[in-house]
This record gives sequence, C-alpha cells and structure tokens, in this order.
Amino acid sequence: MHDADDPYDQLGEGYAAHNEVAPYNALYERPAMLALLGDVAGRDVLDLGCGPGVLAAALVDAGARVTGLDRSEAMLRVAARRLDGRAVLRRHDLADALPVADASVDVVVAGLVLHYLADWAPVLGEVHRVLRPGGHLVASVHHPFADGALPSLEPERRGPYAESHLLAEAWSMGGRSAVVRFWHHPLGRMIGWITGAGFVLTDVIEPEPVPAMATSHPEAFARLSDKPAFLLVEACRAG
Ligand SMILES: C[S@@+](CC[C@H](N)C(=O)[O-])C[C@H]1O[C@@H](n2cnc3c(N)ncnc32)[C@H](O)[C@@H]1O
Repeated sequence: MHDADDPYDQLGEGYAAHNEVAPYNALYERPAMLALLGDVAGRDVLDLGCGPGVLAAALVDAGARVTGLDRSEAMLRVAARRLDGRAVLRRHDLADALPVADASVDVVVAGLVLHYLADWAPVLGEVHRVLRPGGHLVASVHHPFADGALPSLEPERRGPYAESHLLAEAWSMGGRSAVVRFWHHPLGRMIGWITGAGFVLTDVIEPEPVPAMATSHPEAFARLSDKPAFLLVEACRAG
C-alpha cells in the first residue's frame, strides 16, 4: 500500500532511476559496499532497506541468496521488477522485529538506511539475533562529520554535533519531490550502539570515489576526494 507520508513512496520511480546512476550511489557508495562485502557466493544475505534493489541484484549476480526488506511499497515494486523472482522481498519497517529466524543469515547489509532510525539499539539487537555466529553486518550511513554541512539543509535544523538530531532535505528527482528526514548521530554513539549490541567492530571505511568519476562528474569527484560523504562499517557476531 502506497504511504502518502513516506518520502520514498512519494519519490517512487524518480528515486529508483536516480539511485541506479547517481554518482554518490553508483560511483561511490555501492562500489565501496561491494568491496567491503567481498565474496558472497553461497551466502544468505539480508538486505535492510533494500530500496530499488540495485545492490541486491549485484549480490544475487555474485551468487548470494538475498532477502530484501523495505518500508516503501514503491521501492519494493521496482526491486521486484529488477530481481524478477531471484530474491525474496518483503515489506517491513525496521522499527519492528526482523521477520527472520535466529542465526539464519551469514551477512546483513544495511545501505544508507540506519540514519533513518532515531535509535539503532533495537534493530542492531535484531541483526545480532538473526546472524549466524561469525556472520557480518556491513552498513553505510551519512558520514557524521558531513551531514550537518549538506548544502540544501535548512540552517535552523542543524543541531550540535554531539547530540542526535533530525535533519531535513528537499529532494527532487525525475519530476517528483519529497522532504526526506534523517538523523544525525555522533560517531561515538554509532560505535557504541554497534558494540553495545554485542558486535566486534572489524572495519571502518571512509570511501573514495571511483577514478571514472573524475571525468564523468568532476565536481562531485573533487568534493568527495576532499571529504567523505558516507561512512562504512563492518561488524562481526563473534563465533
Ligand atoms: C537511501 S535508500 C537506500 C536504498 C539501498 N539500500 C541502496 O543503498 O541503494 C533508503 C531506503 O531505506 C528505506 N527505509 C527508510 N526507513 C526505513 C525503515 N524504517 N524501515 C525499512 N526501510 C526503510 C527507504 O524506503 C529506502 O528504500
């Protein structure tokens, strides 16, 4: 069911088309996520906030068995079209317990979704529960040093770095627009949520844009080479 208040339902195909080719996604975040995920052949992967399913499709192509969860019906429709039955897709809000059995997943991937949550403790507890011992969480989020400086933010919405606070950005994509609200969390709080859920933090990546972006999108390349926009983390459920 389309949710009139959900920004991803409002943006619909406009966001899906953007996500496929936008330099921040296609030439920056996604290559870094795939590199951090490594070899997923034969693995059971749970994709939280799978969106239009571009990463899920790459993981299926690499031999993973993928289940994608997302709150947005519009995103799931695009993902279903793309994956054409090659992954399990379910509508799910990450505020609720994951619809997945204990210790049944090798990898949980959460691409650019955790910053929509005010408190990561409940969902990370769930991720820990569904991962097999030795399994990994791989997540990307807005870099906490960068998200207070987004050019399109309304200045009065910016809060102190050390305090979690909600930010809002107006997005227009493919003729559709929506106000997207997300959380700034300080780095120490994010790490505390990860280790507090019982994970061992195994990697932290500040990605660099792929070299091809230098010619295709020189301004974005210069910006991202100077300062990372996203932060990637990998954490392990101890064996
Ligand atoms: C920026 S998109 C990222 C999509 C995809 N993971 C990627 O990296 O290309 C964020 C996605 O998270 C989903 N999302 C946001 N809040 C959510 C929530 N509470 N529960 C489930 N999905 C959520 C949105 O519907 C959207 O599809």
